[in-house]
Amino acid sequence: MSPVREGAPVAVVGAGTMGAGIALVAARAGHPVRLLDVRPDAARAAVAELVARLDSLAERGRITADQARAAAERLTAVARTTDLAGCAVVVEAVAEDLAVKRALFADLETVVDAGALLATNTSSLSVTAVASGLRHPGRVVGLHFFNPADRMRLVEVVRGEATDPPVVDDAVDLARAWDKTPVVCTSTPGFVVNRVARPYYGEAQRMVEEGVADPATVDAVLREAGAFPLGPFELTDLVGQDVNLAVSRSVWEQTFHDPRYAPTVFQQRLVDAGRLGRKTGRGVYAYDAMGRACDATPSTEPPRPAPAHVVVQTFEGRTGFDVMAPLLDRIAAGGVVVERVELDEQDGDLPTPGIPLPGGAHLLETYGVAASGSYASDGRPVVLLDWAHDATTCTRVALSASADCPPVSLAAAVGLCQAAGVAVSVVGESPGGIVARTVAMLVNEAVDLVGRGEATAEDVDVAMILGTGYPSGPLEWGERPGVDAPFVLERLHEAFPTGRYRLSPLFERAERAGRLLREL
Ligand SMILES: NC(=O)c1ccc[n+]([C@@H]2O[C@H](COP(=O)([O-])OP(=O)(O)OC[C@H]3O[C@@H](n4cnc5c(N)ncnc54)[C@H](O)[C@@H]3O)[C@@H](O)[C@H]2O)c1
Repeated sequence: MSPVREGAPVAVVGAGTMGAGIALVAARAGHPVRLLDVRPDAARAAVAELVARLDSLAERGRITADQARAAAERLTAVARTTDLAGCAVVVEAVAEDLAVKRALFADLETVVDAGALLATNTSSLSVTAVASGLRHPGRVVGLHFFNPADRMRLVEVVRGEATDPPVVDDAVDLARAWDKTPVVCTSTPGFVVNRVARPYYGEAQRMVEEGVADPATVDAVLREAGAFPLGPFELTDLVGQDVNLAVSRSVWEQTFHDPRYAPTVFQQRLVDAGRLGRKTGRGVYAYDAMGRACDATPSTEPPRPAPAHVVVQTFEGRTGFDVMAPLLDRIAAGGVVVERVELDEQDGDLPTPGIPLPGGAHLLETYGVAASGSYASDGRPVVLLDWAHDATTCTRVALSASADCPPVSLAAAVGLCQAAGVAVSVVGESPGGIVARTVAMLVNEAVDLVGRGEATAEDVDVAMILGTGYPSGPLEWGERPGVDAPFVLERLHEAFPTGRYRLSPLFERAERAGRLLREL
């Protein structure tokens, strides 16, 4: 193998959604591109559509007219595999079917030079399995583009069991030359993004099943407090509940039914009912003719009066507010007098951190324990404040109250948070609330992937930010002061001892070594 030369001919097989986008990327990067599809005329139609897209880019001033013309001239539709002879790279984007991909690569091996790089854009099949049976499986690598391929920067470079290390390096260089940001991973189920993102959907579905909140409220809390670009229900309605369930099922099956990836009855029911999302007019939400969700209103508390003055009880530096500390400043800026009082240990009793509320309950941030089982309150009722990704800017927070919490305390907690200028959702009890529970699961999944040596910590964070638009890489989240993901997970594991919430051993390794997760 030798690195792919600038301007070397590239073949793209499969002229559908992904193949067309990849052909455009390669042509714009200066390669003559031959596009092949099994459907008669599909490649020709795709080239015509790409030329129109290039013209439109030029009209909008995104590229010059010369660049558009040059890229268009590099695109050729071909009709037979033998037309691909002489190509230095073949990117396969045909149907997601192992037998089809294997047959294609076996055919290609007889056509292209021994030094050509063979890449598969599979999103769920094992690159190892795609390459097996070939004469030179060492030159097969995964190049997993994201949709739309010409606009998404991320490319996962997937190393199969047999992939030669220089081929991985060549694929990384090629992705960079194509103006993409490559991350490298092994051929593990779901690769990086589809693997680490699983709990984003799975936890949300479980929380609805458990009655913690309705979908619209879960979506709103994760968007407005968690700073995720889209809530898990609106996102799965967008990509299709059937597509999302198929990915979940695939990862679960490829991990031999690891409970961590088990799909949910909630989602299966939607699919059974034909409620596939926007494309069928109904999924989790119902959509009107304009494509607007008609029933996506989150539960939001009406305005409540805030106490005029609150005391934040502090003991040995613990306030009961770590991640959410900036909200206290916003509450003060909203006109509430916020006083901090340092308490001492009395007769062996540890003082309760947090804010005592009218009616006797305490308000403090979630630390993983469901409100009714909270021991930070020293036997008193509590109201737990869920995390926000950025408590200085969040526009919503979620509160949950213990079963014995007097309504007057909960109303005061709502008013206090509203004084900070945020909407408030009161949700049911859950270890870790909605945001902390979701984040803890994402952190665990990411840490586990790194701990197994499937990808580096840096690549996992880059992949999740670029591939999903999460506000932070999960490992970066896990290292933020006050974020105790292992503690949240242990409480989830106590509540639901199915194995889904087991902690990655890397947490313990990091703690013993006294190092950050990203340093291991
Ligand atoms: N759509 C996505 O969001 C997405 C994202 C990343 C990866 N992928 C993967 O990319 C691949 C293609 O997905 P897509 O969404 O573009 O599918 P698609 O259905 O839009 O296109 C597939 C194309 O391949 C052609 N084809 C099928 N068998 C062929 C063969 N043997 N030889 C030549 N052409 C053949 C079909 O005629 C079709 O035009 C799949 O492996 C998929 O998992 C898809």
